[in-house]
Amino acid sequence: MDAFSKIAKQAKFRNKVVKQEMGLHCEKCGRDYDYYEFDNGQVIKDGCDCKMIALAKESTENFKKKQQRIKTNAIFKKSIINDDLADADFNNYDPTSQQLAKAKALLERYANNFTLNNKQSILLFGTYGTGKSHLSMATIKRVREKGYSVLYMNVPQLITTYKDTYNKQSQLTERDLDKAIADVDLLVLDDYGTSLSNFGVQKMFEVMESRTGKHNIITTNNSSKELIQNKDLAKIFSRMMKNTTTINMNGEDFRMRGLNF
Ligand SMILES: Nc1ncnc2c1ncn2[C@@H]1O[C@H](COP(=O)(O)OP(=O)(O)O)[C@@H](O)[C@H]1O
Ligand SMILES: [Mg+2]
Ligand SMILES: [Zn+2]
Repeated sequence: MDAFSKIAKQAKFRNKVVKQEMGLHCEKCGRDYDYYEFDNGQVIKDGCDCKMIALAKESTENFKKKQQRIKTNAIFKKSIINDDLADADFNNYDPTSQQLAKAKALLERYANNFTLNNKQSILLFGTYGTGKSHLSMATIKRVREKGYSVLYMNVPQLITTYKDTYNKQSQLTERDLDKAIADVDLLVLDDYGTSLSNFGVQKMFEVMESRTGKHNIITTNNSSKELIQNKDLAKIFSRMMKNTTTINMNGEDFRMRGLNF
């Protein structure tokens, strides 16, 4: 006995049938069914598979979503996050200047207000060791806690990951990576810069094309002038600047603090 016949049996036991038609045909699923309407308003079409099909479809969709999440997580895990960033969050970032305090406040607000509606990107400019990676990691963690999908990619490493997909043994295909990047709710591209190969420049262009109008955080040690030094880089940069707030993070290298030379 299928699940719906069981329900029908139970319902019949407790409730009065107020309407009943036998041997009807459902155009939608192509099956014959018996129609019961009970005094509590419940309707049962015994034999019609439409509900089952809808349930199966829903679980397939959930399954697909789950698979996508597993894939995104697998890719997220691929990003080698430096040990010194593993614990990075907003609480353990101690700004050493007003500019850095402002950067922290802006990013924390961005993370707290994150929704899929108002798509916004952020470009973090600045010298080495001021906490650009630290604060982007803190942001991504907070956004992830809110249930959004996130991806943290160090740019040179992303390019290498793309190259690796051409390897026959690679489990990850170039399309998997393209899709994960295009679909993720928030993408961090850490350490973008001018030192890319031709392949890297081409890939970055494609990545930015697929990320236009979405949430991105990009960090760089280069100046905006350096980032438009040739036509190809300028094309990438103009895409990066769409709906983008720039934040300057300059200062001393935090790692060198307290060291005397
Ligand atoms: N203001 C800060 N408070 C606490 N830790 C910091 C601060 N700035 C940098 N760090 C730490 O110093 C290291 C270098 O910072 P990082 O974010 O990698 O710099 P950037 O990406 O700007 O080059 C990281 O381990 C980071 O956690
Ligand atoms: Mg960094
Ligand atoms: Zn049906």
